[in-house]
Amino acid sequence: MRVVGIESSCDETGVAIYDTERGLLAHRLYSQVKLHADYGGVVPELASRDHVRKTLSLLDQALADAELTRTDIDAVAYTMGPGLVGALLVGSCIGRSLAFGLGVPALGVHHMEGHLLAPMLEDDAPEFPFIALLVSGGHTQLVEVRGIGSYQLLGESIDDAAGEAFDKTAKLMGLEYPGGPRLAALAAEGRAGQYRFPRPMTDRPGLDFSFSGLKTFAANTIADSDKSQQALADIAFAFQEAVIDTLVIKARRAIEQTGLKRLVVAGGVSANIALREQLTEFMQRVGGKVYFPRPEFCTDNGAMIAFAGAQRLVAGERQDLAVITKPRWPL
Ligand code: KG4
Ligand code: ZN
Repeated sequence: MRVVGIESSCDETGVAIYDTERGLLAHRLYSQVKLHADYGGVVPELASRDHVRKTLSLLDQALADAELTRTDIDAVAYTMGPGLVGALLVGSCIGRSLAFGLGVPALGVHHMEGHLLAPMLEDDAPEFPFIALLVSGGHTQLVEVRGIGSYQLLGESIDDAAGEAFDKTAKLMGLEYPGGPRLAALAAEGRAGQYRFPRPMTDRPGLDFSFSGLKTFAANTIADSDKSQQALADIAFAFQEAVIDTLVIKARRAIEQTGLKRLVVAGGVSANIALREQLTEFMQRVGGKVYFPRPEFCTDNGAMIAFAGAQRLVAGERQDLAVITKPRWPL
């Protein structure tokens, strides 16, 4: 089955074609980063309009890359939620209509299911069951994954997501949107041991996270510093170290609690090199293994939606003709 995947939940338009026998055939991504940069964050209406402009041309490019035409499509999967309602509506309307026009089945996919299955697109794919640490701009969650659709939430952030904390702290440092990767680049120039940030909620039992305090701590630390480039780099280092330590501590608890030895890490923050290194080292230490998507599939993309949709479509799941979006949708 050849499945088209459409992602449009936020500020990336992604289209991909996944073949259940041959694997990923093509994927195209258009990032709206430049469009939103002047506003310091995503402007929902601009995001929706840009998805309208880009989705079908990306589809045609992806089909051309795979040497296919629209009539070769067997099914269409699109992100149905969670995300920005207008942005979701664009991908859902296009996806549902395309499938109707072609007379093929369609399916709405959960964006976070896309993220958590993304490492399965790699050659060294994880087998079920595993623990998933989902770290994106909107979510920070630990999930016990037993199979497609068998997801037990073990813990999540009670306030800001990890990526959101990166973005907000980056803004405090005067870094441009999107701040996460910029803060990570600045942290690479920072020195260890200059500042010490708290590791929120690690002194209590449980697997929930809280990252909003780190942003306040960063604001105070920046205010008390000389705001030189080196001081900001040192603060970025200490902030990132605290986020990573916290994620590693909670991942360790999830591993101990469940006895599972496979850890999947996905979502935008899983592109962070220091996080990848430390989780790899930690899982080696406990005799387990960690799985990441390739860096371009850590952040939003169409390939993960095509893949997640394909798993459910081959099992017979279908969407009826109504175009439904779920801006808030628990996994
Ligand atoms: O998964 P994603 O593309 O979108 C959501 O579903 O939210 O994640 C985007 C988030 C943003 O907060 C971005 O700053 C963060 O991932 N991010 C990073 C890095 N790359 C992206 N955070 C830290 N280090 C990075 N290298
Ligand atoms: Zn995402």
